Amino acid sequence: MSQREELLAGALLPEDTAAEPGLRPGRLDEFVGQPELKEHLHIILGAARARSQPSDHLLFAGPPGLGKTTLAHIIAREMDAGLHVSSGPALERAGDLAAILSKLEDGDVLFIDEIHRLPRIVEEVMYPAMEDFNVDIVLGKGPAAQSVRLDLAKFTLVGATTRTGLITGPLRDRFGLVSRLDYYSPADLEAIVARAAGILDIRVDQAGAAEIAHRSRGTPRIANRLLRRVRDYAEIRADGAIDHETAAAGLNLFGVDEAGLDKLDRAILSALCERFGGGPVGLSTLAISVSEPPETVEDVYEPFLIQQGLLMRTPRGRVATPTAWQHLGLAPPPSAADQSNLFD
Ligand SMILES: Nc1ncnc2c1ncn2[C@@H]1O[C@H](COP(=O)(O)OP(=O)(O)OP(=O)(O)O)[C@@H](O)[C@H]1O
Ligand SMILES: [Mg+2]
Repeated sequence: MSQREELLAGALLPEDTAAEPGLRPGRLDEFVGQPELKEHLHIILGAARARSQPSDHLLFAGPPGLGKTTLAHIIAREMDAGLHVSSGPALERAGDLAAILSKLEDGDVLFIDEIHRLPRIVEEVMYPAMEDFNVDIVLGKGPAAQSVRLDLAKFTLVGATTRTGLITGPLRDRFGLVSRLDYYSPADLEAIVARAAGILDIRVDQAGAAEIAHRSRGTPRIANRLLRRVRDYAEIRADGAIDHETAAAGLNLFGVDEAGLDKLDRAILSALCERFGGGPVGLSTLAISVSEPPETVEDVYEPFLIQQGLLMRTPRGRVATPTAWQHLGLAPPPSAADQSNLFD
């Protein structure tokens, strides 16, 4: 693609995706929240820089939109290093990975998104690359095949995954830091909304930012998206400025309730309560009843519902908590109330 075509393609991206690069914090100090992780990174990157060495390999895990890709960009920038980006499903054959690795220069950062989806044969190439900075390439086929060892530059692998459980032990063990990103507090999200409003030139007061933050499912990407939706609402229905009232009205209009649950969150809970009597029900049955792939329900929706105490994963399946029934305005059946006593 020519540069012009690339620019045009960028201009036609959906607003969500197009806005992300501009909103992405570029430096560790601009990254809001996750104080513990930030401190770890300050120390690891600072020490590596002082030794003029690449940092250890780093793995970030957590639900979508919490800042894993952003951190990979920040790490490359803080280390003043080149960044190469790939993803687990894109690396189908061992040769694909070897080709990328052999292009790296000393200190470069290689970011592999969805690293839990690396095929096993590719993952096995990764082990010696991470540990000893070399790969064995097989040339030719059959009895004439020859294995050649290729030395690699000293690079830093940054992996991201929404599923820590699916990372194999050997891969996980080769990272110097495995870090889980947590959902953000309302205060952190409020700071993120205020920062994005500044960049996008949106007028929002403190109470308006707080309301958006409060309904953002603990997720910066959602906070940024809701800010843009409320801006649209404020421009059409009010004078463009966002205060508490406009924020609340705009969010209600777009189907985001007071707890930050969207339509699908509520569809999952109401299927669970109304169709399956509160559970336990298997993940795949639940997913089919809301017409979503099981992985999406498991990775994107459930973690927040669990964190909010609305849903539980049990060995026999998913169960609605009494809070879930209350949230839907339904009376919990006696059995659900019993279960809550178990945990008192
Ligand atoms: N700590 C943060 N401070 C400010 N903005 C943030 C922060 N974390 C994320 N964001 C914003 O949220 C958006 C989404 O973050 P990012 O793309 O890094 O998420 P992700 O964890 O890689 O998600 P996915 O799993 O879907 O790839 C970014 O464009 C950025 O604007
Ligand atoms: Mg990402």
